[in-house]
Amino acid sequence: MRDIPDANDLLDWYDVHARTMPWRVSPADRQAGVRPDPYHVWLSEVMLQQTTVAAVRDYFIKFVARWPTVNDLAAAEDADVMGAWAGLGYYARARNLLKCARVVTRDYGGTFPDTREALQKLPGIGPYTSAAISAIAFDQAETVVDGNVERVMARLFAVETPLPTAKSELTALAETVTQVDRPGDYAQAVMDLGATLCTPKNPACGICPWRDPCSARAKGIAADLPRKLPKTTKPIRHGIIYVARRSDGAWLLERRPEKGLLGGMLGWPGSDWSDNPKVVPPVTADWQSADVEVRHTFTHFHLKLEVQIAHSSHENTPITGEFIPHSSFKPSELPTVMRKVFDVAHPALTGIND
Ligand code: ADE
Repeated sequence: MRDIPDANDLLDWYDVHARTMPWRVSPADRQAGVRPDPYHVWLSEVMLQQTTVAAVRDYFIKFVARWPTVNDLAAAEDADVMGAWAGLGYYARARNLLKCARVVTRDYGGTFPDTREALQKLPGIGPYTSAAISAIAFDQAETVVDGNVERVMARLFAVETPLPTAKSELTALAETVTQVDRPGDYAQAVMDLGATLCTPKNPACGICPWRDPCSARAKGIAADLPRKLPKTTKPIRHGIIYVARRSDGAWLLERRPEKGLLGGMLGWPGSDWSDNPKVVPPVTADWQSADVEVRHTFTHFHLKLEVQIAHSSHENTPITGEFIPHSSFKPSELPTVMRKVFDVAHPALTGIND
């Protein structure tokens, strides 16, 4: 009979090996009484949904430097927040981030609520994020389950049910191990274990603090778990996109509608993205193909874009979008796919102000 997994063994490991993150209070500081800023915890956890720690780090630093409190963020212009988020993806998160900041400021005077129930009523905060904030920021004994934790639990308890079917089973198992003493550190410790030792490939079982109680290790199947249902292949969609530049250097851009893919973000006008895209160019001009296809993969499909470029005259008024002066256009505020289009179009459209 193997040991029951002991949360204290994991915490002892975390006390030595916790990763350093700009939003994290180290286990030593935490035990000395330092509390994490709930605004930092919330912001980092929203950024970390679907994204890696490495990708989030610089965005987090940039956000807290520009908006040091949730009240500052609540008062920001929508376009500034969407621009600062550009490149992180899943843009509904940025729209909800701003909505949430405004609710916390308006209804809670800028102080985040500390229970999972109250947190989960806020925009953009689901079961994962509410558990993470209440555990990490407020030391509530909530069970935090992300992809790393699912993998750790699947192995610890040798769960052979494939994901995503196994999700509720893995959550229930994670609840049986959750620590009531240091819930914030414990939640982060399981995630760190999954990210650093109990990795998808080649798990470092030999140095794992939970090697003894791990059922998958005992059976020699740790690297095979969690099992996953076969992935469905993504369809390919096509689109045509237009980059126009005026002689004064201005660029023809549009703000995308709030609802839908890349909602609220700045982009180039273009067609729908489908099997058979249809479109009218956004302004009358001598359009030329850039002769390079831009490819980008979204969650549910691959996209192939034909890029059309043109120098536009001052006489023609755009049908879609508006000309933005070169001095106020920041390519870094474009979502990644639109940035790729810019990178392809720009060399052929360099202007006097560049
Ligand atoms: N992944 C998401 N949130 C995390 C956290 N707080 N610590 C470690 N990994 C994480």
